[in-house]
Amino acid sequence: MDKQLKIGVLGGGRGVSLAQGARANGMEIAAVCDRDELCGKLAAKRLNCKVFTDYAKMLDSDIDAVVVANYATEHVWAVKQALAAGKHVMSECMACFTMAEAVELVEAVEAAPNLVYFFAENYPFMVQNLEMRRLYATGDLGEFRYGEGEYVHPMTKNEIDQLTSREDHWRNWLPATYYCTHSMGPVMLITDTRPEYVTAMVVPRCADDAGMNESLRVNDDVSVMLCKMNNGAVTKILPWSGLRDHGQRYRICCSKGVMEWNQGDSNLRVSRWGGDFVDTPPVHPYFMKYMPNLPPEHIDAQQHGHGGGDYFTSYWFKRAIVTGERPLIDVYKAVDMTMIGIQGYRSALNCANSFEIPDLHDPGMREKYRHDDWNPDPARPCADKPCPSVTGPIKPTEQARETWHRIRQNCEDDARRQMS
Ligand SMILES: NC(=O)c1ccc[n+]([C@@H]2O[C@H](COP(=O)([O-])OP(=O)(O)OC[C@H]3O[C@@H](n4cnc5c(N)ncnc54)[C@H](O)[C@@H]3O)[C@@H](O)[C@H]2O)c1
Repeated sequence: MDKQLKIGVLGGGRGVSLAQGARANGMEIAAVCDRDELCGKLAAKRLNCKVFTDYAKMLDSDIDAVVVANYATEHVWAVKQALAAGKHVMSECMACFTMAEAVELVEAVEAAPNLVYFFAENYPFMVQNLEMRRLYATGDLGEFRYGEGEYVHPMTKNEIDQLTSREDHWRNWLPATYYCTHSMGPVMLITDTRPEYVTAMVVPRCADDAGMNESLRVNDDVSVMLCKMNNGAVTKILPWSGLRDHGQRYRICCSKGVMEWNQGDSNLRVSRWGGDFVDTPPVHPYFMKYMPNLPPEHIDAQQHGHGGGDYFTSYWFKRAIVTGERPLIDVYKAVDMTMIGIQGYRSALNCANSFEIPDLHDPGMREKYRHDDWNPDPARPCADKPCPSVTGPIKPTEQARETWHRIRQNCEDDARRQMS
């Protein structure tokens, strides 16, 4: 394809970073849409493009593809409308919010075989994770047996208030298992496996955690999930958590060695075990600690967010459109890495019993989950509605509401200043 791809962006927050990654890959940012007029105008100013408040109108405009970066729990309707309008789609995480939506999404993408759906999970594209993917593919480390994926990102109450444009914003109520694709995505991409079962526990919010208790948050902020992968391996996942640390950790233990990228250290640690483990233990394990070589395109990519991840999602999205090859993170991988958060919350509320992660290639599984709209969004009705916190209903204080209003007012004043 010689023509420059024209992109429309839904969501003027995170959407701006994704648009910058798309531009760096030679795509034209034609428009941004946000129903919050000020947010949309500011994004359009930054991106130097047209602005819409109505998504349907942006879809009617002269664009080839849409970057879907609206609320994390509301992507499926937006993806479906874009595909119905003949646009390629790159969607932010999560891919879907209910099991029924996972089925809906898969079927909408299958119904548009000439259009690309790419899931913009960006953590697999950090250079250390790319290097682990390369090493695993050589076969030298043997078969994947045990993995760990952690995304630890504590935020103060004030930071969360700045990121929550409404009192009922998803960040204030999303249960602790749901934001899990940054943790599971790299493990799946490195090892080319998928989760089949999940068992989870949520750590109840702490009575002395002022950051939670003086905010509008009605959820918990730490959970641990164990996933059985389709090759028999087990993966421990720590979804987005507020533990008092910061960073990510991925550990891939295989039959002949281990690769690990740990919090706060940019080096990758690799151990390879010689010997055959039959009559003598291997006496010469070989350890290496190194920063993977940066290929030229990675040096450019580092200018963009999340260790180059925000560049490479657009790179692979464009590549799928231009070459017609299967998207690297397609809709099946997208729902697999997302559904562990939904089924994981079910598990956490059911004494950590394990729940299946259906393979939605299977028509029988689609029928089983087609009407499963179980969800924790206080505004979306469903049967057996779960509480966002495992501790039960939480009522924010009036003081929390007042400070939230004050902080939001400051954010708006700041945005207006930037517009003038
Ligand atoms: N991959 C990453 O590293 C990363 C980092 C941050 C956020 N995210 C994802 O990006 C997405 C957006 O997050 P955010 O941080 O920008 O916060 P956000 O969810 O508050 O932003 C969403 C924006 O979309 C707009 N919007 C919502 N519904 C709309 C509609 N119907 N029409 C037009 N505009 C609408 C809102 O006004 C808001 O400005 C989420 O899916 C989140 O998970 C990903």
